Amino acid sequence: EIKGFTFDMDGVLADTAKFHTVAWRQLAEKLGVTWNDDLQERLKGIDRMGSLNMILAEDNLENQYSQEQKETLAAEKNDNYRQLISTLTPGDVLPGMQAFLDSLKANGYLMSVASASKNAPFILEKLGLADYFVGVVDPASLHAGKPDPEIFVRAGELLKLAPEQLIGLEDSAAGIQSINGAGQTSLGIGNSQVLSEADLNFENTAEVTLAAIQAKLG
Ligand code: BG6
Ligand code: MG
Repeated sequence: EIKGFTFDMDGVLADTAKFHTVAWRQLAEKLGVTWNDDLQERLKGIDRMGSLNMILAEDNLENQYSQEQKETLAAEKNDNYRQLISTLTPGDVLPGMQAFLDSLKANGYLMSVASASKNAPFILEKLGLADYFVGVVDPASLHAGKPDPEIFVRAGELLKLAPEQLIGLEDSAAGIQSINGAGQTSLGIGNSQVLSEADLNFENTAEVTLAAIQAKLG
């Protein structure tokens, strides 16, 4: 029986995936790396340094920069990103998600956040969502980011629930792998071809309701 939900944030709760894309694309182009849709999709869910390495690897540039230079580049991206998210308001909660969280709360489900973003607590505050969650996993404390299962395992532990009692929500392929590895039921939001490993698929956040989930679970 399902008793809790583990949430990705960027692209699931918050309309912020577009800002990550803008900021990474700007950095990639400055570094002379050609942007493409496949790279954009693969970057979803990947932590900050992992993302930079993925961008550099596009043109086999990973070894052209020292760790210190990479830290500077990642910080530059984050500064740009922080500028873009500085004006976030509750209006930037993705469609249907406020109502979904309210219905989960009303029905006694427990919720936690499994976001790779170090900006998650700031964004959840800005969106007015912080109080819905028992806890937010600190991504700085992880040994490995998505697609490793660790972050969703930890999000489940925060709720003191077993994997079989949990549904994890994700908009990234790396995140779906992480949920599956943690033994939770995976709910993918977005292109079902990209998220083909998800147990349940939804086109967009507006379609995600308790009734729709129950119907798909059968
Ligand atoms: C994930 C996003 O949620 O967080 C990625 O999908 C992002 O695009 C990652 O790179 C890390 O975020 P931050 O805010 O710590 O740089
Ligand atoms: Mg996401």
